[in-house]
Amino acid sequence: MLQLLRYYEILLDYSSLLFYNILAMSGYYYIFTYGCQMNVHESEKIAGLLREIGYVQSSDCETADVIVFNTCCIRDTAEKKILGNIGDVKHLKKNNPSLIVAVVGCMTQQKGIAESLKNKFPFVNIILGTHNIEELPKLVSDIDNKIIKRQISVSSEDNPEICETMPIYRTSGTNAWVNIMYGCNNFCTYCIVPYVRGRERSRAPETILSEIKNLLANGYKEITLLGQNVDSYSYEGYDFAYLLEKISEIGGKFRVRFMTSHPKDFNGKVIDIIKNSPNICNNIHLPVQSGSNRILGLMNRRYTRERYLEIIDEIYDKIPSAGITSDIMVGFPTETDEDFQDTLSLTERVRFSNAFTFVYSPRNGTVAAGMEQLPYSVKRERIKTLVALQNKISAEKSLDYIDNIEEILVEDVNPKKPGTVCGRTESGRLVTFSGEKALIGEFVNVKITSAKSSALWGVKE
Ligand code: SAH
Ligand code: SF4
Ligand code: F3S
Repeated sequence: MLQLLRYYEILLDYSSLLFYNILAMSGYYYIFTYGCQMNVHESEKIAGLLREIGYVQSSDCETADVIVFNTCCIRDTAEKKILGNIGDVKHLKKNNPSLIVAVVGCMTQQKGIAESLKNKFPFVNIILGTHNIEELPKLVSDIDNKIIKRQISVSSEDNPEICETMPIYRTSGTNAWVNIMYGCNNFCTYCIVPYVRGRERSRAPETILSEIKNLLANGYKEITLLGQNVDSYSYEGYDFAYLLEKISEIGGKFRVRFMTSHPKDFNGKVIDIIKNSPNICNNIHLPVQSGSNRILGLMNRRYTRERYLEIIDEIYDKIPSAGITSDIMVGFPTETDEDFQDTLSLTERVRFSNAFTFVYSPRNGTVAAGMEQLPYSVKRERIKTLVALQNKISAEKSLDYIDNIEEILVEDVNPKKPGTVCGRTESGRLVTFSGEKALIGEFVNVKITSAKSSALWGVKE
């Protein structure tokens, strides 16, 4: 089915090309995407919008007529990279003076940044914030038709209405991303997201359910629900557990994943639904950030180390095969060696199957940016120690899979090793085994035969 879907998409691409060649083929787009899964999905919406006005995807930015930078500002490293990449496309305007360059998303939404981007990059034509992406096609057309040259449009509205009519051009293979909510109310003191994404807004359950049914009817085998804090999903009294239960009641064979969960809102009801619903994956991303109660307090995370461990124990107690992953940060202002030791001991105790580890990066306008900062040399040593510990745990946990028979949803061929394909276990571990392209989109039982760090290999049963 999925093969068929892809084939149709290719056909559709060529036919739309022919159609637009005769009528209105406007040119090629190229999108640079940075940041979280939410942004990856947003780029699918940007692609959908551009395709509606006759643009088709270009294989590289050199041949594009519209280049979009869909930005992130979660850490300084992300911002620096993006600024460098924007600067790098300036020369393309020499060969193609009608090239349109747009910068959109989280970075532009920060105070004063749209204005400074406008001054720093005079060749950028469009700057849009996170709340008004749907203006993109009109602006691109207006620039293309020489009605305007440049436009900056960033809305400071904290509670914008959710746009339910945005076209989506999906490029994520067997998996389809589905937003269940937007924004964040938590104001963790290190985090810029609430300032650039506005307050929490949840989509209606019936809209989400009908989108999912549609996707399944079109051959998608895995749905990933997206939200900054999915556990605080709330729509007219319906909560996340209700939504998960309704989704699990849809018939047929498919998988559901969701991210991100927040320990202050995660609860036993959700654990029970995961346990009792074969379609809801036992893969839980539950960022802890720190193992020190003092630092968790300063971060405004609103749970303690003890409460976090209680949730972990409940998950492993009810679902022993669960794959729990996390985000962990080092170098938060005032973090002492003792605080850091608490993070290491929590990491040892939980034994995450994988963790994203970050060095704290001060973000303008957040509370923590005004606190006393640690020297980079301390942060660097701590991240090295944490990464080494987590790598050791991931490798050890991989060995637990050996001889297991795991159901794998095949996602892709392994480009580095012809004749092999890869996909994930229900718990989220990547497995490679011998197989052909035709298996993509199929559920296959695989016996795990070997493991190296967090990667697993196996043979088809
Ligand atoms: N809403 C999710 C994810 C937010 S961003 C959550 O609450 O967990 C993803 C991760 O980036 C966060 O979990 C955090 O670990 C990291 N992060 C956020 N702000 C950061 C900062 N200023 N410096 C370093 N890492 C940061
Ligand atoms: Fe940022 Fe905290 Fe919201 Fe996650 S929950 S997006 S870390 S403020
Ligand atoms: Fe980055 Fe915005 Fe996501 S800041 S992490 S792209 S919500």
